Amino acid sequence: MNFEFTEEQKMIQQAAKDYAQRELIKDAIERDEKAEFPAKHIKNLAGLGFLGMMTDPKYGGGGMDAISYVLAIEELSKVDSSVSVVVSVCNSLVNWGIEIYGTEEQKEKYLKPLARGEKIGAFLLSEPEAGSDASSQRTMAEDKGDYYLLNGTKNWISNANSASTYVVIAQTYPEKKYRGINAFIVEKDSPGISLGKHEDKMGMRSSDTHSVMFTDVKVPKENRIGEDGFGFKYAMKVLDGGRIGIAAQALGIASGAFDLALKYSKERKAFGTEICNHQAIAFKLSDMAVKIEAARFFCLKAAWLKDNNMPYGIASAMAKQYSADIAMEVTTEAVQIHGGYGYVKEYHVERLMRDAKLTQIYEGTSEIQKIVISRSLLKD
Ligand code: CAA
Repeated sequence: MNFEFTEEQKMIQQAAKDYAQRELIKDAIERDEKAEFPAKHIKNLAGLGFLGMMTDPKYGGGGMDAISYVLAIEELSKVDSSVSVVVSVCNSLVNWGIEIYGTEEQKEKYLKPLARGEKIGAFLLSEPEAGSDASSQRTMAEDKGDYYLLNGTKNWISNANSASTYVVIAQTYPEKKYRGINAFIVEKDSPGISLGKHEDKMGMRSSDTHSVMFTDVKVPKENRIGEDGFGFKYAMKVLDGGRIGIAAQALGIASGAFDLALKYSKERKAFGTEICNHQAIAFKLSDMAVKIEAARFFCLKAAWLKDNNMPYGIASAMAKQYSADIAMEVTTEAVQIHGGYGYVKEYHVERLMRDAKLTQIYEGTSEIQKIVISRSLLKD
């Protein structure tokens, strides 16, 4: 077993770290306050190749492995997860699925500009009444011969406004339940698409979240991804990889908060010494470090399995559940170590704590990960 990163992996990690620590940090608090989409940073990260980092170079991507992806997402998330979520959604939920299951025409027309970072993608699965229960799709994709007619509403869509290319999951044959669901590539400027208000969220405030309404939207037949009725399994497979990205994001939030707490504890004095010298604080730091290291192993193992073409769905569910849960614990302790300063915005840790909460909710709640894991234990 080799725990060393390759030179290329280290280089990607360093590039993400440099950008996060030099650039993202400058306006992270302001963007959070204004709930402003980080357009400038996304453009810069696209230029550096991060939006299509895992896509095959043949389709305009960077051809990097999932380990590099984990390292990059962790570094970006140490500073700002509203930015890293765009990298994660584009790479895992949009590009990967089109690359693996799309036609050559779809890859030429849609994947190339996505992988080159010229366009942003969004993944539209959740609905007002289909969040955790993803197969209860109400959005209809009626088969009209040479096109599908889309009608319905999607909720909580990351990148909804900034994306140009949507991957939409919708029901074509309700009587077939999940076997009647399809996945489609839909251009955001198609007639009949409208957006709800920008969601005013607790955390990840500058990520661009809206509901999306479809009214008689015509989608060409050739934009269906995969066989007729493959849409639910498509969504599940795409989410298996997406959860590695969100696990890495949670890991980054936890390690970012830890770095701040460690630094603060070495500077702040109480009872005649730096607070890190008090066992009450030192033991907190130790517990936080152990949890972060364990989360890192989970994330890297899931990525390694993916890179080596081995089943990774359960590993990614474990990585996501554990990393998200410890991100909440670690950020809460980081605020506690900062005391009153942790509760105000300028010290960053309260923002990381608010951001951590979402990692327990999106791309499958912690409870959904437990369903996935326990079903795998109980089958046969
Ligand atoms: N890979 C391939 N196939 C899979 C699969 C996987 N990971 N998981 C399930 N399937 C298949 C099953 O094998 C089954 O097919 P067969 O009958 O042919 O064997 C079929 O799919 C149905 O499976 P289930 O009976 O397990 O389906 P279910 O209705 O019980 O749901 C679930 C399973 C895991 C709970 C699923 O609904 C789920 O993942 N829910 C959470 C949804 C989610 O993560 N939403 C996130 C939204 S996206 C987002 O958050 C993006 C963002 O903003 C950043």
